[in-house]
Amino acid sequence: MSFEQMWADLASVGRSRSSGGYFRPAFGSAERECHAWFLDQCATRGLETRTDGNGNTVAWWRPEGTGDQPGVLTGSHLDSVPDGGAYDGPLGVMSALAAIDRLRERGVAPSRPIGVAAFAEEEGSRFGLACLGSRLATGQLDPATARELRDRDGVPLPDAMAAAGLAPDLGDTSLLDGVGWFVELHVEQGRGLVDLAAPIGVASGIWPHGRYRFDFTGEANHAGTTVMDDRHDPMLSCAMTVLAANKQARLGGQRATFGRFEVTPNSTNAVPSRVTAWLDARCEDDATLAALVAEVSRLGRERAARDGTGLEVTAESVSPAVAFDPDLAARLAGDHAGPDWPVLATQAGHDAGILAGAGIPTAMLFVRNPTGISHAPAEHAEVADCLAGVDALADSLERLAG
Ligand code: GLV
Ligand code: MN
Ligand code: MN
Repeated sequence: MSFEQMWADLASVGRSRSSGGYFRPAFGSAERECHAWFLDQCATRGLETRTDGNGNTVAWWRPEGTGDQPGVLTGSHLDSVPDGGAYDGPLGVMSALAAIDRLRERGVAPSRPIGVAAFAEEEGSRFGLACLGSRLATGQLDPATARELRDRDGVPLPDAMAAAGLAPDLGDTSLLDGVGWFVELHVEQGRGLVDLAAPIGVASGIWPHGRYRFDFTGEANHAGTTVMDDRHDPMLSCAMTVLAANKQARLGGQRATFGRFEVTPNSTNAVPSRVTAWLDARCEDDATLAALVAEVSRLGRERAARDGTGLEVTAESVSPAVAFDPDLAARLAGDHAGPDWPVLATQAGHDAGILAGAGIPTAMLFVRNPTGISHAPAEHAEVADCLAGVDALADSLERLAG
């Protein structure tokens, strides 16, 4: 099946008619439909498929004679952020299947197995912890912590998995046994490749990033009868903290975003009793990230003290800086027909960063995104660039798998 046909298969799954964006939360119906499609595609290709106790799936092509050689794994994820784009995740999974087709068309007989992965809850949109599936599969997250995770409706992770027909065994680390290399193809989420007029790029590394929950507490009261000076309004403390985060990130050339809020009781005519806000911060190195979050927290507490409110800051997930194997990146960037692919850093998180952190030699390929917009309905890649990505991935797999 061609790449274009595969793309058409999933084009309407989890898509909003009003915005055109996608929402495929982990273990929800849209993501499950994509996952069932993935299993079907793997079966059609005769791949050997296994889903682990964390909800990750890997499908292996094991040509005769590859035996227990370490394998080359590729793939990405099928879940999305709320109202996200079509490409973030599925492009890597579909390109992996299409690259296997390409290698077979070329008559390549790999001397190592080639696997395709679909990792669970990469975005952390449902349970709050990014790259949940790959963290568990590489032993980088305590299964007890994962068991306690709940979605916004209070559904525990194991229950959500069971409701999706899975048998949860959180912390199962058997799926990646025998993986010698990992290559993730992903739509670029910025304008690096557009600016370089290059359809394909290779990642040098990932900026460290984290998610931090800011709980502001105050005193609920009447919006009309409470004079302004008598209020202990957590919304004010929160608003000032949002502005401070933006200013601090700008001053240092870093990134800070408050994109999610919960207001209690969320009533038009009452001063709120609580505001919970999530900071997503990303910096060029680990020390700068720690300093940025510390400064935003300090400024938030200072304001809270003036407002007579409280602030507690909790780090929900922190991912250290990732430097991908430079030799592998250089090899993939140069060892093919045509001009070298540019090597560039990214500020977006990926399962590839988690696998690299587990000591697996890892690389990433990026496909040009004409506007650089991502995590939004306008995320896009031209078909010609997607097909160039499939070829690039096939070339890379051929180099690595022999
Ligand atoms: C995932 O795409 C992230 O960067 O948050
Ligand atoms: Mn994403
Ligand atoms: Mn992604």
